[in-house]
Parts: sequence; C-alpha cells; structure tokens
Amino acid sequence: MEDVKLSRRFFLKSTGSAAAVAGSVVIPIQSANAAPSAAAAVSSTALPYPKKVAGKASAMPVNQPVNFNYPDESSPCYAIRMGNPVPGGVGPNRDIVAYSAMCTHMGCPVTYDGGSRTFKCGCHFSIFDPENHGQMVCGQATENLPSIKLEYDAATDTVHAVGVDGLIYGRQSNVL
Ligand code: FES
Repeated sequence: MEDVKLSRRFFLKSTGSAAAVAGSVVIPIQSANAAPSAAAAVSSTALPYPKKVAGKASAMPVNQPVNFNYPDESSPCYAIRMGNPVPGGVGPNRDIVAYSAMCTHMGCPVTYDGGSRTFKCGCHFSIFDPENHGQMVCGQATENLPSIKLEYDAATDTVHAVGVDGLIYGRQSNVL
C-alpha cells in the first residue's frame, strides 16, 4: 500500500512539475491594437478576384440557370434567380445566387433540376441545394458546391461576381 501511495505521490509531483514546466511556456497574445504580423499577412486567403458581370437581375428567368464564367473563362458557373429570398441572395428580392458548375467530387458538370430546385451531377448522383449555400445533399461529393459571391448594383440592375467561397474543382487556387 505504501508503494502505491509513494507511486501516486511521485506521479502527482512529477506530473505537477511537468505541468508547471508546460505552464511556463510563454504564449504571445496579440493585443487588439497590434498591427497584424507579417506571417498573418502571408497566410491571408484573400485572392485578387476580378469583378465580372453575371447578368441583369430583371433579365434572369425565375428557377432557370444562367451560364457565365468566373473567375476566368475555364470556370463555368450558373447564376440562378430562385424566386424567393435565399441565404446569401442578392438583387431586389435577395433571391439571386451563383455556383460553380463543376461537381466537387470529380469535376463533372452539374445541371439544374427546376422540379427539385437542386443541382444534380449525373456522374455519381451528387445533389446540391442552391437555396442553402450549395450544400451537398447526397451522393459521392463531400464538399458543397463553391458559391460565387455576388454584388448587386441597383442603379444598373446588374449582378456582378466578385469572389468565390469554396475551392473550384481541380484547382489549388481559385485565381490562377
Ligand atoms: S463527379 Fe459528381 S458525383 Fe462524382
């Protein structure tokens, strides 16, 4: 029993020492007013996305996709006016969203099914929900459809693509 107590005491003392040593490691805490470090700037994910016209809001038919390319000509996308406000939607009714047209599983083109109001991939049957940030609903894909960030200019009724959330299939960076 004595051996057990000694062992327990030894254990607590030795682990306490280890914890004290670990606790003595100084972790720098950046103050709220401190300028961002150079390392943080280097690891920034901001990319030089172009601003490109996706279409005129009033010219977009409800529940039908409109093709455009973004951020470059080799990246097909769909803009779609859902007909009801959706998360992230822009335009007068906050119902216009846009997504990459390439499936996140293996890059096959997705097509829009107006009946189910989803994007479907015919290769391995993944389904994505444009009314919920391109969420992957089922199938082989494990990532949501990359969503194209949009801005709406009410003066000209123009929808612009200005960025991408998510990695476009086959790329290491969305901007090549
Ligand atoms: S490429 Fe779309 S599910 Fe496989």
